[in-house]
Amino acid sequence: MNTPRLVAAQPQAPFAPDSATGGDFIQLRGVCKAYGEQLVVMDNMDLDMRADDRLVIIGPSGSGKSSLLRVLMGLEGIQGGSIAFQGKPYISGGQRRGKPLDESLRTQIGMVFQHYTLFPHLSVLGNLILAPCKVHGLSRAAATEKARAYLARLGLESKLHAYPSQLSGGQKQRVAIARALMLEPKLMLFDEVTSALDPEMVIEVQNVMLQLAEQKMAMIIVTHDMHFARHIATRVVFCANGRVVEQGPPEQIFSQPREARTREFLEKVVHLD
Ligand SMILES: Nc1ncnc2c1ncn2[C@@H]1O[C@H](COP(=O)(O)OP(=O)(O)OP(=O)(O)O)[C@@H](O)[C@H]1O
Ligand SMILES: [Mg+2]
Repeated sequence: MNTPRLVAAQPQAPFAPDSATGGDFIQLRGVCKAYGEQLVVMDNMDLDMRADDRLVIIGPSGSGKSSLLRVLMGLEGIQGGSIAFQGKPYISGGQRRGKPLDESLRTQIGMVFQHYTLFPHLSVLGNLILAPCKVHGLSRAAATEKARAYLARLGLESKLHAYPSQLSGGQKQRVAIARALMLEPKLMLFDEVTSALDPEMVIEVQNVMLQLAEQKMAMIIVTHDMHFARHIATRVVFCANGRVVEQGPPEQIFSQPREARTREFLEKVVHLD
């Protein structure tokens, strides 16, 4: 493993759009993150995203994909570099752990995890309205109406009063997505949301994500499902050793990867065209 670079090189123009991708929605510049002294998971990482992008992050196990999403969600800090969101400074290195610079920007990001994170003691309705009532100060009646609308959109209206233990895995994940959408995020992060599901439930959750894609939701998706990645991505980003090794449209990455490291990874997980 590399030695952590705790102080990132200062970029010349921190929030200028990247010339290669034109991304000014999310911009990572020289981001460094390490666990302890030795384990570098983001090594001076640069990454850009446009508001109409659906980025799919792929890479070997342990390459820092989940860490990247947790950082963007404000759940973990970074040691160096900076991140801008919607053109505004959002997170910078050295801030107190889990304290992004701008809390109002953080609330515009929703995240769904691999393992359902619904509150088991609350009904589906309770799970959906908790944050909108507490964080956004929505009345219970207004939040309930909104919850009904989202559940109907996701085919779950009959589950309003069910408890998480009464739902299938796919239903739980769809409720988790609905719960994140209740806060009207501008960006959704998905961390291997289907990898613990049975195949038929994978499809129902992926269909919800495709529905969001049709509505032009900005998304960053971590998945090991290369077929789905190819289908949903506007851009695929291959990460290894804390860096972006290669990125491009799915057709290019999956059919003609430029980097040997990408090819080697893809040969292990998919049959190249
Ligand atoms: N809180 C933590 N403390 C210490 N080490 C951690 C912590 N979280 C993750 N790591 C380590 O950091 C590395 C990157 O982890 P991360 O979960 O980001 O990888 P990943 O790319 O999502 O892997 P996977 O594909 O297996 O989910 C791994 O070696 C992991 O063990
Ligand atoms: Mg992970």
